[in-house]
Amino acid sequence: MAVRRVQRIVIGQETSDGAGVRLRRTLGTPQLDHVDPFLLLDEFKSAEGSDYAAGFPDHPHRGFETVTYMLAGAMEHFDHSGNRGYLLPGSVQWMTAGRGIIHSEMPKQKDGLMWGFQLWVNLPAAHKMDPPRYQDIPPGEIPERETGGARVRVIAGESGGVAGPVRGIVTEPLYLDVTVPARQRFEHPVPAGHNAVVYVFEGSGELGGEDGAAGRPLEAGRLAVLGEGDTLAAVAGDGGLRFLLIAARPIGEPIARYGPFVMNTRDEVMQAVRDFQDGRF
Ligand code: CO
Repeated sequence: MAVRRVQRIVIGQETSDGAGVRLRRTLGTPQLDHVDPFLLLDEFKSAEGSDYAAGFPDHPHRGFETVTYMLAGAMEHFDHSGNRGYLLPGSVQWMTAGRGIIHSEMPKQKDGLMWGFQLWVNLPAAHKMDPPRYQDIPPGEIPERETGGARVRVIAGESGGVAGPVRGIVTEPLYLDVTVPARQRFEHPVPAGHNAVVYVFEGSGELGGEDGAAGRPLEAGRLAVLGEGDTLAAVAGDGGLRFLLIAARPIGEPIARYGPFVMNTRDEVMQAVRDFQDGRF
């Protein structure tokens, strides 16, 4: 068993996207462009309707996957093929954009807390042009397990023999929502060879310490990039600790990225822009 050390800590940057939704971005910035295969991680959290009301009107994606995990509030999803879905608190939508979708993601409320995350996961060249696919998982279908006092919601991958509902993703991701009570230690296997990040969104704690030794301090709004090993180790601070543990198999291919298009070469990105403009999505 090798505990994964913290390689790097990134402080979220306040920014906005869509039609002016305020969010905190830790991945996909000049500070940290990507952690293969992860291209972007945003947290949106506001009780002010003006921070999110404009939503994300029609926009395209090609060449990767978008993962929306909601903690509070409701969004409605609609795409150009007529697919419609609701994102309710505790639900997840794993959307494999593949060769292309055009969709909107709009709030279904005018005020009140809206809180969630969007992660972008890259696809390898062999799957960038796959047909689009949705996995819309309602809150009740995400299993929750208790382990040593900690609560683990299993969105993708496996925890203690409990498999998450998101299936058939090429990079074999692990996506867990973990709550650790005050001053408790939590350990969890992370497949060796996967790249792994931890995003803290409530409380504080330490990460990456061997049992009995101190780790690196981390608080809400921070992303930790983990080094090699096969185990995550965290110790919650006095107010408890809640975080996302996200890991996946790296792809190791060139990344050519332009807004919502992520391909391997600049030519493929230009083709994506043309296909979108000519209505071929
Ligand atoms: Co989108």
